[in-house]
Amino acid sequence: MLIKKAIFPVAGLGTRFLPATKAQPKEMLPVVDKPLIQYAVEEAYAAGVREMIFVTGRHKRPIEDHFDMTFELEVALEQAGKAELLNVVRSVKPPDMECIYVRQAQALGLGHAVLCGQRLVGNEPFAVLLADDLMVGEPPVLQQMVEQFSEWRASILAVQEVPAEHTRRYGIVDGNPVNDRVVDITRIVEKPAPEDAPSRLGVAGRYILTPGVFHEIATQPRGVGGEIQLTDGIASLLRREKVFAYRYKGQRYDCGSKEGWLQANVELALSHPEVGANFRGYLKSLSL
Ligand code: G1P
Repeated sequence: MLIKKAIFPVAGLGTRFLPATKAQPKEMLPVVDKPLIQYAVEEAYAAGVREMIFVTGRHKRPIEDHFDMTFELEVALEQAGKAELLNVVRSVKPPDMECIYVRQAQALGLGHAVLCGQRLVGNEPFAVLLADDLMVGEPPVLQQMVEQFSEWRASILAVQEVPAEHTRRYGIVDGNPVNDRVVDITRIVEKPAPEDAPSRLGVAGRYILTPGVFHEIATQPRGVGGEIQLTDGIASLLRREKVFAYRYKGQRYDCGSKEGWLQANVELALSHPEVGANFRGYLKSLSL
């Protein structure tokens, strides 16, 4: 297995989704029938990752509970002969998957959150998945990136074209095209204004990083928004190592925003084996 460990930064406050996130982690918001964090964990598992490192904060206990055994529920389902549901509950955490939790006491930024996982990751390449970016792809997006990593043996960032007026929402990269999908990055800037953006290639919430990035993050001054930015750490890493951007095959839903979350719900509901057909009929009946 090339990439065995993944960091899930889940300490954020989710202010874009208030009041839903007032007392519940934004990563536990469901899309159709699964919480956002489960989609990200399943994507990592499909890519071969077995050690899931959650960087959590206060009020994030429901995430730990979700990936724990729910003894009473399992006994009740077993006694009621509900084998299918029991299977749904048990498959949330396959036996060969390990979940580890580390606290980020202060929300000092994404770079700082990743740094909190340094000791658990050690000296090997690792993945970072931002659960509020829900990625739908075949093969799953992180798996595509692991394939790229095996070719280039360097850090890989998932990117997509973003509208010029949205550059302020993303890390934006610039570089030299290697092929249709891969760019050899020469520059990366966090959330530039459209007039300062070096391109329109925005980073989506999936990264494969070499461990050298930890030292770079640790020596960063605070960046955009007064936060220790992962993007700034990657910009420093560029001086020592190659970093590639990869245009993934698939669709990204920004589930940290209401609109993106609604779109994800509609589209994933339409392809859901249980509710898809009826839901399609319902949408048609709305005659918008
Ligand atoms: C973070 C990163 C940004 C990246 C984005 C993807 O920003 O800092 O570089 O493009 O995730 O979703 P955030 O959305 O946490 O503000």
